[in-house]
Amino acid sequence: MTFIRNAWYAAGWSTEVVSGKMFHRTLLGEQIVFYRKADGSVAALVDRCPHRFVPLHFGMLRGDEIECGYHGLRFDCAGRCVKNPHGNGRIPDAAHIRAYPVQERHDLIWVWMGDSTADPARIPDYSLIDATSDYQIVTGGYLHISANYLLMGDNLLDLSHLMYLHDGLLGSRDQVDSDQSVREEDGKIICRRWVPKSSVPKIFDLLYRRDGKPVAMWTEIQWQAPSHFWFDGGVHALDVTEREDHGWWYGQHILTPETERTTHYFYAAALPLGTQLTDAEKSRYAEMRRFAFAEQDKVMLDAQQAALGDADFWSMKPTLLSVDSAPVRMRRVVEQLLRAEHSESTPTDPA
Ligand code: FES
Ligand SMILES: [Fe+2]
Repeated sequence: MTFIRNAWYAAGWSTEVVSGKMFHRTLLGEQIVFYRKADGSVAALVDRCPHRFVPLHFGMLRGDEIECGYHGLRFDCAGRCVKNPHGNGRIPDAAHIRAYPVQERHDLIWVWMGDSTADPARIPDYSLIDATSDYQIVTGGYLHISANYLLMGDNLLDLSHLMYLHDGLLGSRDQVDSDQSVREEDGKIICRRWVPKSSVPKIFDLLYRRDGKPVAMWTEIQWQAPSHFWFDGGVHALDVTEREDHGWWYGQHILTPETERTTHYFYAAALPLGTQLTDAEKSRYAEMRRFAFAEQDKVMLDAQQAALGDADFWSMKPTLLSVDSAPVRMRRVVEQLLRAEHSESTPTDPA
C-alpha cells in the first residue's frame, strides 16, 4: 500500500460511532474497529483477532473491552489481551493487537496510523463546522468512491470540471475562460478561479439572488497533505463587492483512502449567517450538493478508476492541460512525502 501514514485521517462522522456498538471501516487498506469507551472517548483497534484472524467486530463489547466472537479472547482498548478463557488462562505473548491514537474533533473521528508521534495539533482545521462556529452548518455527508483518493483529489483541486460535469448546477459553460492562479502558502496548494461575468449556476442562484441575472463568480480550493480540502466559492452581483450579497459558502472536503482503488469522502458546508434560506431551501441546497457529488462526481470517478484498472497513473502518460497545474503539484508533494516517510522507516546500513 502506498499511503502516507504519518497523518491524521478522518475515519467517520462522530455520529457513526455510537455507545455500545462497534463500528468498523477499512482505512489505508487495514480493517479497523472503533467503539466508545465508558468515558465517551473512542478506541480504534486492528479489526483482526491474533488467534484465528477473525474480525473482532463479530464479537461482543464488554465494557471497554472486546470479546472475540470465535473463542472468547478479550482485548482492552490498548490492544492488550486481558483474558484467555482456555487452559490455565495464561495470556500468550503474541496475543495483542495494534491500537491507534484517536481524536474527536470537528464532529469527526480522526485516527493516526503512522509510527511517528500522533500530535493532535496536526489535525486539519475544520473548525468552521464546529457547533460553536459563526456559520450555518449544512450537515455533513459521506460517499464511498470507487477510485483512488488522488483521482478524487484531482477532481477537487481542478474545479474547471464545474463547467462541464456540473454545468448549470455548480458552474456553467460560459466560465471556460476563467482566470486561474495557483499558489502555495503554509504548505497548502491553493487554486483560485475567477470569472468577471457569467450566467448564475442554480445552486448560487438559490443562495441569494434568485433572479437569474449575470454574476461574477470565484472558486478557491485549498489542499493540505495528504487529502484535506477547503472550498471557498460564490457569486456576487456585478455592481457589489465580493461576499457582500451572501451568494457564497465554505465547503469542507475530506478524503481517506480505503484501498488503492476506493476512497471515503466526507463533506460539509458552512454558510455565512446572513444567508437567507428557509429550511426547505436549505434542504434543496444540501440536495443539490449531494446530487453533484453522488450522481455526477462519483459516477465519473468510479468509471475513471474502472477505465484505469490497476495501471499506475503516470505510466498511462496522461495528457496535461493548464487546469492540471494544482493537481500535478499535489501529486508531486504526495510523492515527496511518501519518499521521506519511506526513508525514515528504512534502516540505514551501519557499514
Ligand atoms: S479467533 Fe479470536 S479467540 Fe479465536
Ligand atoms: Fe465535482
